[in-house]
Amino acid sequence: LFLPLTNVFPNEEKRNLSLGGHVGFDSLPDQLVSKSVTQGFCFNILCVGETGIGKSTLMNTLFNTMFENEEASHYQNGVYLRPRTYDLQESNVHLKLTIVDTVGFGDQINKEDSYKPIVDYIDTQFENYLQEELKIKRSLFNYHDTRIHICLYFIAPTGHSLKSLDLVTMKKLDSKVNIIPIIAKADTISKSELHKFKIKIMSELVSNGVQIYQFPTDDEAVSEINASMNAHLPFAVVGSVEEVKVGNKTVRARQYPWGVVQVENESHCDFVKLREMLIRVNMEDLREQTHARHYELYRRCKLEEMGFKDTDPDSQPFSLQETYEAKRKEFLGDLQRKEEEMRQMFVNKVKETEAELKEKRERSLHDKFEQLKRMHQEEKRKVEEKRRDLEEEMNAFNRKKVAAETLSLSQPLKKDKDKKK
Ligand code: GTP
Ligand code: MG
Repeated sequence: LFLPLTNVFPNEEKRNLSLGGHVGFDSLPDQLVSKSVTQGFCFNILCVGETGIGKSTLMNTLFNTMFENEEASHYQNGVYLRPRTYDLQESNVHLKLTIVDTVGFGDQINKEDSYKPIVDYIDTQFENYLQEELKIKRSLFNYHDTRIHICLYFIAPTGHSLKSLDLVTMKKLDSKVNIIPIIAKADTISKSELHKFKIKIMSELVSNGVQIYQFPTDDEAVSEINASMNAHLPFAVVGSVEEVKVGNKTVRARQYPWGVVQVENESHCDFVKLREMLIRVNMEDLREQTHARHYELYRRCKLEEMGFKDTDPDSQPFSLQETYEAKRKEFLGDLQRKEEEMRQMFVNKVKETEAELKEKRERSLHDKFEQLKRMHQEEKRKVEEKRRDLEEEMNAFNRKKVAAETLSLSQPLKKDKDKKK
């Protein structure tokens, strides 16, 4: 809608004119502010850090309230992320704040895959946004944007160096989210050690190529403070919801037998610096960077993966329509190839089944023939036996007959002799 003038009229020169009186478009910024205030804002923080490192306490301290807090156990099988959304209001500004906690981070013996659920979570939020953008009926205006605007990475105050889990996780996240590393529970480390620890951490991040969020220095109004704060990274923070009386003031602090650590005292820790940078100066930049850098990268990779491109191989612009046509052709080709494969597979299957059936039939015929043959032989054997029996009977009979005949021949002679007497 707002094409640059040079695109519409390529040879048109811009002329500066002065207005004769008040027109009123100088209220445009006010209109924007009013619109934004009515709409409200949303901001999503991801807290990555081991169990019990002080994530919830710091969030409570930052927003000066008590969020829901459930302690994590140290016996999780894996890492998971727990998002919680709150509606906050300061003056007339509404903030929809989502705090996402890692649960069970650093608790497994094998921590190799600990970063994966975090990466997946961030990607899923990008994917949801992309899906909304690609809908025909989009409602991005009142869409609950859950993309992570800032990842606060809690480093354990060991005074030693980063753990490999920290380096691996930050490296996997740095192209997906703005990272601000913070040294947690900084009251447990001495001043000189803290100084060395900060230098060590920064040099390890640099030598491992981990990109952390830099407070922007291009806006004149905040460039000075942002530049000086960049030099203070990583912030060493202390969290507490305890109120302690110092002099005649009540402050948030941690009380120890040897003294009081005041959360908001800049000579005690960097909590104020973190709050200033994260909430009061750069919240909008964090939101913008998330959309313009991290989401843009995700979107680009995803669309390229899906086959969309801006230019063809000859660097000529390639429209969405052309991409669609090309993809459609590719899809139809694929479909045809698959159909042909299926057909071939079907033919082969039929052939195989036919051969199998034939073999089965032949085998059963053969079996039948064998059975008949066996039956026939059995019958033959039986007949043979019967024949032998009969023969034997016949022989016996003949023998008997012969004996009888011999007997009857000798009998008349005896009779004749008797008659003669
Ligand atoms: P899970 O959600 O269970 O992983 O823990 P968490 O990271 O949210 O830690 P949580 O804020 O519950 O704090 C754990 C313990 O550390 C509590 O006893 C806090 O009082 C203590 N703690 C929190 N912040 C600090 C800090 O800055 N310094 C010190 N010394 N202790 C802290
Ligand atoms: Mg917690």
